[in-house]
Amino acid sequence: MARRRWRPLLLLAVTAACSTAACVDGRSAPAASTGAAIELLRTPGDSTLRDDPVSRAVRRGRAILRDTPDSLPHNVGSTLRCVSCHLDDGTRAFAMPWVGVFGRFPQYRSRSGKVARLENRINDCIRRSLNGTALAFESDDMRDIVAYMSWLSKGVVSGRRDYGSGIDSLAPLVPDTARGRVAYVSACARCHGPNGEGIKAATPALSGAPLWGEHSFNIGSGMARVRVMAAFMRRNMPFDTPRTLTDQTAFDIAGYLAAQPRPDFADKARDWPNGDPPPDVAYATAAGKKAPR
Ligand code: HEC
Ligand code: HEC
Repeated sequence: MARRRWRPLLLLAVTAACSTAACVDGRSAPAASTGAAIELLRTPGDSTLRDDPVSRAVRRGRAILRDTPDSLPHNVGSTLRCVSCHLDDGTRAFAMPWVGVFGRFPQYRSRSGKVARLENRINDCIRRSLNGTALAFESDDMRDIVAYMSWLSKGVVSGRRDYGSGIDSLAPLVPDTARGRVAYVSACARCHGPNGEGIKAATPALSGAPLWGEHSFNIGSGMARVRVMAAFMRRNMPFDTPRTLTDQTAFDIAGYLAAQPRPDFADKARDWPNGDPPPDVAYATAAGKKAPR
């Protein structure tokens, strides 16, 4: 029998402000909230971590993913953290969770045209989503990041794409960027800033990471694609009232965000070497787009 791998929870929006009394497995406990249902996938839980070498690696990996620019100052070129997008330490459904990811690699990736190891995939997000430089496969940092993802993936059937993995699938709509700008100002700017630069407030729930500009993810990041951004935001944003935007508004805002400046990705022309880029990729590739065979 397939086990239900998710549990809907009512969570206080302040997930980052996890004080001792309100903590379950290092996260905020269910509490009276805005009423927004956030689904966290089942994980082994912190009570399974002890004072042994593997547990220490798992904890250290999680700390890197939570505070990436501080932990990896030579590798990170943005002010984003891994968990800025992979919400709730990579356990939130439809926010690209890492639960189960360990068993889904090695995997063929059309963007590189190669079979990727989990380490390659992690470096993709470092180079693109954090606009940085790759970690050495043999480094302790990479080992510990993988240790955390492996721990999160315990008990998940290897190779299976479970409920909540990746992002939501939304039927594509045509964005209206002028409407998107208006909606951005009313729904996003109070946390992400009027110029998408991000806000660091004393209250984590009123902070947001950069959405465009020099400190944001670069053009090669999946999040720079309109469909990916729309699906992520439709499900997870605004942070304190998720699932309140319509599909059309999500696409309008995503269209507006895609039109804003962000760092370039030097190797982008080499992406999709077999000519099969998704339709919302915002740049030309050397292989171009070949007709499907
Ligand atoms: C700007 C947002 C963003 C940031 C920051 C980010 N990622 Fe990602 N990540 C994504 C997106 C988008 C995907 C692709 C999701 C999809 O299409 O299913 C992804 C996918 C992944 C995957 C594969 C997940 C799967 O189910 O196959 C891994 C592993 C991963 N990221 C690790 C990381 C790590 C480690 C960091 C920090 C070094 C990081 N990411 C930072 C956006 C981000
Ligand atoms: C109440 C505050 C708040 C509001 C309003 C809000 N966000 Fe966020 N957003 C956050 C927080 C907090 C994070 C996670 C950042 C972190 O932990 O580093 C986040 C993360 C993100 C991310 C991934 C990280 C990044 O910066 O690329 C995107 C994309 C995003 N928000 C888009 C939006 C959009 C679009 C809107 C408007 C529809 C919106 N947000 C409204 C607080 C907010």
